[in-house]
Amino acid sequence: MEQNRGTWSSRFGFLMAAVGSAVGLGNLWKFPYLAGENGGGAFVLVYIVLIVLLGFTLMLAEMTIGRHANSDAYGSYNKIKKGWGFVGGFGVLAGFLILSYYSVVGGWVLKYIVASFTGIGADKSGYFSNFISSPVEPIIYHLIFMGLTAIIVIRGISGGIEKAAKLLMPALFVLLVITVLRSVTLDGAMEGIRYFIMPDFSEITLKVVIAALGQVFFSLSLGMGIMVTYGSYLSKDEDLEKDAFLIPSLDSLVAILAGFALLPAVFAFGFEPGEGPGLMFITLPAVFEEMPLGMLFSGLFFLLVFFAALSSSISLMEVTVAFGIDQFKWSRKASTIFFTTLMFVIGIGASLSMGAWSDFLIPWIDGNSYGIFDFLDVFTSYYLLPAGGLLGALFIGYVWGVPNAVKEIKMGSAFRTEKLWTVLIKFVVPVLVFIILLSTTGLLDKIIG
Ligand code: PHE
Repeated sequence: MEQNRGTWSSRFGFLMAAVGSAVGLGNLWKFPYLAGENGGGAFVLVYIVLIVLLGFTLMLAEMTIGRHANSDAYGSYNKIKKGWGFVGGFGVLAGFLILSYYSVVGGWVLKYIVASFTGIGADKSGYFSNFISSPVEPIIYHLIFMGLTAIIVIRGISGGIEKAAKLLMPALFVLLVITVLRSVTLDGAMEGIRYFIMPDFSEITLKVVIAALGQVFFSLSLGMGIMVTYGSYLSKDEDLEKDAFLIPSLDSLVAILAGFALLPAVFAFGFEPGEGPGLMFITLPAVFEEMPLGMLFSGLFFLLVFFAALSSSISLMEVTVAFGIDQFKWSRKASTIFFTTLMFVIGIGASLSMGAWSDFLIPWIDGNSYGIFDFLDVFTSYYLLPAGGLLGALFIGYVWGVPNAVKEIKMGSAFRTEKLWTVLIKFVVPVLVFIILLSTTGLLDKIIG
């Protein structure tokens, strides 16, 4: 029975699960290197603008749909309007593809927990590229990460991981702050701080906007129905507006702190800000070397990054597994094993594309060709998730209707930003995301000339 789906044991439990999904490799690994590749402060500025315009708006939208329909992502859309379940279906595909390569990076983090103690050597950059391009070792770590995610998902989420997250997320936060303090006080850090917080407006190009948009969706776990599902377990007196403000704020805070932990150090040590996916793995070990008990700090830090990644990967896998259970009537175990195997195999390709298979390129509609790893990243962050978000906004604005959504929100609290939210969800979000999506495919170029 619907009434028996259960609710969160406490508001804190819900917040931790939502924050657990949102805060992960997106904040700690991806955000700093995207900032480094896209003009530093220019990227950060665009990112913050998009969080304010889109992040809060869509977070509230997804939670509201879920709480109203009281079902999973696919079921919630379908229940409110028959035939719209496919929006949830988008999310299943996105979750499946994201986890395939997310797990590879999760494996890198595992390796670095070990490497913190066994030693990384002087050539941090060489160590990293040697490791990720080797044919076997990264795949073993990828298997371990995927396996751990699967075990937790088979057991039915919450319980242990929720308890662990309550402890580990705050611990991560503390360690992150310590790392920031070390990084910003390094000799020569000032240049990096300036790079990170002073936007050079001439650097704000279409590419930067596209990168920031994809990152907003990725980092907030938006556009694939996770927040719909989590919202469905909320009670009617929950203040959705407040939650939709709190979660993106915390998520962005962690991302910005990660930027402060890395970029000043990048400049202090003379690394390249545009280093790409290796930025965290190359820079952090160098920062920890400058600290007393550096090995210990490093091991602990990567361990906490690992837990943040795990609480995100669980939410990613849950979407896919729940789909197998609901649509094909599989058992939880069968569904988990089936999808885990598929994701693991795709992940092998992603891992090998860093080395042995680096010549295998997939041509894409934007005119570029991508290796498997990059393709999975680009296709999900820049197409699938924004498309899911766009459809979600259109769904509320024009299918379900804003007044109905507002009524749902007001069941729990006053809705202070009702007028603003109405304008954002009906007009600003759809138009903005649509334009960026078009320009991402390169169509805008052709249309405008
Ligand atoms: N938000 C997670 C992170 O930042 C990744 C994620 C994306 C999780 C999409 C769920 C859905 O690491």
